[in-house]
Amino acid sequence: MKADWPIGVFDSGVGGLTVLRALRDRLPTEHFVYLGDTARLPYGTKSRESIERYALQAARLLASHNVKCLVIACNTASAIALDVLRRELAPLPIIGVVEPGAKAGCAVTKSGRIAVVATESTVRGGAYEQAIKTCRPDAVISTRACPLFVALAEEGLTTGPIVEAVAHHYLDGMFSGANRPDTLVLGCTHFPVLAGSIARVIGGEVSIVDSALTTAASLENELRRAALQNESVGRVGSVRLLATDGRERFASVGSIFLGAALRPEDVEIVDLV
Ligand code: DGL
Repeated sequence: MKADWPIGVFDSGVGGLTVLRALRDRLPTEHFVYLGDTARLPYGTKSRESIERYALQAARLLASHNVKCLVIACNTASAIALDVLRRELAPLPIIGVVEPGAKAGCAVTKSGRIAVVATESTVRGGAYEQAIKTCRPDAVISTRACPLFVALAEEGLTTGPIVEAVAHHYLDGMFSGANRPDTLVLGCTHFPVLAGSIARVIGGEVSIVDSALTTAASLENELRRAALQNESVGRVGSVRLLATDGRERFASVGSIFLGAALRPEDVEIVDLV
């Protein structure tokens, strides 16, 4: 592995572009190859076997691009398939988003009552509870699967009455009563774009955190540890975008997540086997 090789970033779709954005902000000289498995999204409703198989195919494709490190930006794939990926692709360093997200939640909570919203598979797998308990054993954790949030974000519907109605549906029960959580971890790539609407529903006193910034810090540490930082000072790194389907949709919805304009011709379509 060489320092000027790119970093692979994988998500089930375009949501992981929120993570890519944070990685680029923190590590501007690094090159990135991003893969969104848009043909098979959502992963969050699939079985463990399918998620592991899909994630492995995606990781192998990125490994074939000579990546020096892999970031699994998809919470569902991180929660379910991280061990398999690390085993199958060793010695490639692989970073997931669940542990950084859990650490971010533990760093801001005062009461120790932490809520996590994620996909069905992430919630079912229990990875967030485990990761939060590791850094804060006395934490009181509540979790809720919010699959409609993924659909709303994919539609580019991030504010307004429909989003807030769905947020009420999922979150009112979690945030009622005297022992309500003081922290909400957004355990899904798609949820950060809904954060404004979610905050309006649960109240501004609840801290909302996602894993993007802490994942970027973990990646920086990993590159330093492995002496793989790209030291081309002053030169902005490149980004290559790969998807398994829908160049136009990737560009239009992806620009919301990336916070920058994307054109269909910026996206290469690839096949996973
Ligand atoms: N990327 C997935 C995650 O972060 C959300 C979308 C999906 O269900 O595939 O869990």
